[in-house]
Amino acid sequence: MDLLSTSAETLDAAIATAPSSPGIIGRSSFVTNSHHVAGLIHGDSATALKTLPNDTFNVAITSPPYFWVRDYGYDGQLGHEESVETYINKLMEVFDEVKRTLHPEGMFFLNIGDTYYSGNGQPHGSDPKCSSRNFFRTKMRPVDASGWDIPKKSMIGIPWKVAFAMQERGWTLRSAIIWNRCNAFVEPTARDRPHRQYEHVFMFTKSRFYSFDRSKLVEEDVWNIPIERSRRAKHNAAFPSELVRRCIEVGSPPGGHVLDPFVGSGTSIFTAIANDRNVVGVDMSPDYVDYIQSALEADRHKDISWENLLQRVKTPSAAWELWEGNKKNFRKPGKPKTE
Ligand SMILES: C[S@@+](CC[C@H](N)C(=O)[O-])C[C@H]1O[C@@H](n2cnc3c(N)ncnc32)[C@H](O)[C@@H]1O
Repeated sequence: MDLLSTSAETLDAAIATAPSSPGIIGRSSFVTNSHHVAGLIHGDSATALKTLPNDTFNVAITSPPYFWVRDYGYDGQLGHEESVETYINKLMEVFDEVKRTLHPEGMFFLNIGDTYYSGNGQPHGSDPKCSSRNFFRTKMRPVDASGWDIPKKSMIGIPWKVAFAMQERGWTLRSAIIWNRCNAFVEPTARDRPHRQYEHVFMFTKSRFYSFDRSKLVEEDVWNIPIERSRRAKHNAAFPSELVRRCIEVGSPPGGHVLDPFVGSGTSIFTAIANDRNVVGVDMSPDYVDYIQSALEADRHKDISWENLLQRVKTPSAAWELWEGNKKNFRKPGKPKTE
């Protein structure tokens, strides 16, 4: 279906009757005070992304739920699968859609962390600093069950398993950025290993030739960015806005288009707006979606139709042609700019 030639009402009806519709609970769209657009879809990412047009977003950035690390408190959340393979397959369903909706020269920054295989045969300890981890105490997770083919207490290596699965599906892995979370909390139960201070941010591209504004890169592949402790919407796994800002700036022109399929407390939305980009975010948590929606209303951004929002993100930024990151404008060392 061509979403752009469809009226908002028809589109709503189409989504309501589409086979994949049970995944979408609601959506809202705003034109911001700086005349950009922000869209929010409440629902399951794999389904919600299917309603977005092809070849659109300059940059996607996200942090999906990690494997059995938190409980977001609702059915249908990712991260609670029976096996690592199923978890990765579920992520791939979402990321295939990210790839389809990404501009042919677009890039995808994926922040993902690891999980330990405990194999203890009983629930794990609790983390007093983080209520969303306390389900460990009573719930026996698959990573607590014995019988895996790796030694107990092993790191599973999920980030790289995901990266390899992405390569198999045609993504080009261009960088495995280390996000040094300089002020990371200590891990109270880790008495016999270093506490984890870094996470990966993989930089994938849809094709080998893509846009990238090197002039905006403030560090090479180790990014020293503290965690923000503000706990927006009580979300304790939120991105720091600086991390999002960097990805947005290297991956999109001013006025360009940003996507976050697991937007959580809305960092990508608020950072995109603050940096003059258009943005669409998806999340399945009613609490986070309510929080983002109220914050956008409180900032007095105005409602627009979903159809208008789609038209805006389908139109390239006015800055696209001249943007230094546009691959056409890359300067080869020692050579003038190519056509
Ligand atoms: C690590 S958090 C993202 C945090 C976000 N980067 C921020 O800055 O707040 C992962 C998010 O994925 C959401 N989520 C889990 N399963 C989902 C699904 N099937 N579809 C959409 N969102 C989902 C959770 O509600 C949670 O907000």
